[in-house]
Amino acid sequence: MRRQSFVGCGAHALTTVPLAYLVGETGRVVAVDRSRWRFFEEVATSAGVKHKIIPLKLDARELPFPFRAFDLAVLVHGVRSLKNEETMVKVISEMLRVSERVFIAESLPVANNERQRAHLELYNLREEIFEALFGEKDDLHYPTLEKLIELVERAGGRVIKSGTFEPELPHYLAYIPREYVERVEDDEKRAELLRRWGRAYENWKAGAEHPPVGWLIAKR
Ligand SMILES: C[S@@+](CC[C@H](N)C(=O)[O-])C[C@H]1O[C@@H](n2cnc3c(N)ncnc32)[C@H](O)[C@@H]1O
Repeated sequence: MRRQSFVGCGAHALTTVPLAYLVGETGRVVAVDRSRWRFFEEVATSAGVKHKIIPLKLDARELPFPFRAFDLAVLVHGVRSLKNEETMVKVISEMLRVSERVFIAESLPVANNERQRAHLELYNLREEIFEALFGEKDDLHYPTLEKLIELVERAGGRVIKSGTFEPELPHYLAYIPREYVERVEDDEKRAELLRRWGRAYENWKAGAEHPPVGWLIAKR
């Protein structure tokens, strides 16, 4: 594996850095994100892999590569950020167009214990809170593995392998401060969200864990 593109790499380069290690000394990772580049330089430099990463600030609905330039295109914990199914299908079809293979991983809407349930309860408020605050959904509810496969097929892909795994990690990124919810203008919506936030937060404080993750490899 020598050339990878990574869509939705995000500010903290959580997946970009491991990918940059994986491609070896001569391999390169093209990291694509339309925003959130704030910590990128710092993280990539301190990890010693900056020279292997080519950052591209653009929207993944139109990738600027005219032909199949990569051996692997990767979308990790990014499907949830693509706003709607039309965009998901468009981005996946672009990944299939530019790469031999596509790897997608995303958290699943599944809780096998109380801590995973606590994560999901707080996380599932984010979509509605973002919509109430900004008029646009973000951090959509996690898709099932069946939905991920359906999206890939709608994008013209063929899933050649898929599975799930339990990260067994504490996971506190679902947190959204109460002050955000307090900014919702609609009185009724704010009261309802605050009530649900309070209940979810109490459970979350007692311990939250990463839910199972679904993954797949696809080809065009
Ligand atoms: C939940 S973050 C995941 C970050 C990273 N994959 C990780 O695991 O740490 C999703 C990222 O997708 C990016 N994103 C959302 N829509 C995009 C689009 N249409 N084109 C490119 N990037 C996009 C967001 O800016 C955000 O950084």
